[in-house]
Amino acid sequence: MHFPITRMRRLRKNDAIRRMIRETHISPDDFIYPIFVRPGEGIKNEIASMPGQYQLSIGEAVKVCQETYDLGVPAVILFGIPEEKDAVGSEAYAKDGIVQRALREIKDAVPELYLITDVCMCEYTDHGHCGVIENQDVANDPTLELLAKEALSHAEAGADMVAPSDMMDGRIGYIREALDENGFDDIPVMAYSAKFASNYYGPFRDAAESPPQFGDRRSYQMDPPNTDEALREVELDIQEGADIVMVKPALPYLDIIRRVKDTFAMPTAAYNVSGEFAMIKAAAQNGWVDGDKVMLETLTSIKRAGADLILTYFAQEAARLLNE
Ligand code: PBG
Ligand code: ZN
Repeated sequence: MHFPITRMRRLRKNDAIRRMIRETHISPDDFIYPIFVRPGEGIKNEIASMPGQYQLSIGEAVKVCQETYDLGVPAVILFGIPEEKDAVGSEAYAKDGIVQRALREIKDAVPELYLITDVCMCEYTDHGHCGVIENQDVANDPTLELLAKEALSHAEAGADMVAPSDMMDGRIGYIREALDENGFDDIPVMAYSAKFASNYYGPFRDAAESPPQFGDRRSYQMDPPNTDEALREVELDIQEGADIVMVKPALPYLDIIRRVKDTFAMPTAAYNVSGEFAMIKAAAQNGWVDGDKVMLETLTSIKRAGADLILTYFAQEAARLLNE
């Protein structure tokens, strides 16, 4: 009978040694905060399924952006809820669209905050799909033209980076070319590369008022069981010029994040989506988990899986705790 020579517990004995050997650190630098902007004045509508998150009119969004910047979070990603929706999502690429106006005002007020825009059609189409409809499905190539127009109009309005989330084939190359031809060769593209047809987007669709009015998104977003296919998606986006690749959602797809990071060594983002946020909030409100601790553990897991950047509704709350 002998006792162990190697004792793993020696390096867990107290906080000092645990800090010294810690392998993963999260910081406000890692976060991108999603913001929903809508027309109007003085509007701050809390989203029922996302406690503490709001639909904001531009003036209110400016305040939230200032707060975000002051907390040390370097970037926000803007989603627009337009005044009018139509079949081709005209407000997505209108010079005075909601996101375009928000970009100008936020840039003006908080010039050092990095402004990313979500480039997609679903918030702007009356049918709620991520592109134009032909034969009851989203038509790929006609949608590319609209996405390129949208990305370009965001760049013209002051976006620092565009992030296409539509999952059309070839959109990264198409948008890259459109930006380059118009003098925006310095604007990076963050591709929602491996975006799965997930049920975790439910609360977002309330927030953005963008549920599909018929069918679902399974003919363009990825089938959840697939992992090799995710690598092919990422590889294509890199070939087409993506500067950052993204996996979305994050938690049910941590394995995909790790494979993408190991395979491509690209700056890799993960989207900790609305349903992931809502579940933690709901459990915390019921007193079933410690919300703050579960939040930090969750964000750490996403970073540990290989994400360099995390899009998260927890950005402000987590930054506040990490700054303490
Ligand atoms: C738009 C878009 C969606 C999300 C980000 N961009 C919704 C969707 O694809 O239905 C989801 C984000 C979240 O759930 O937090 N295509
Ligand atoms: Zn969409």
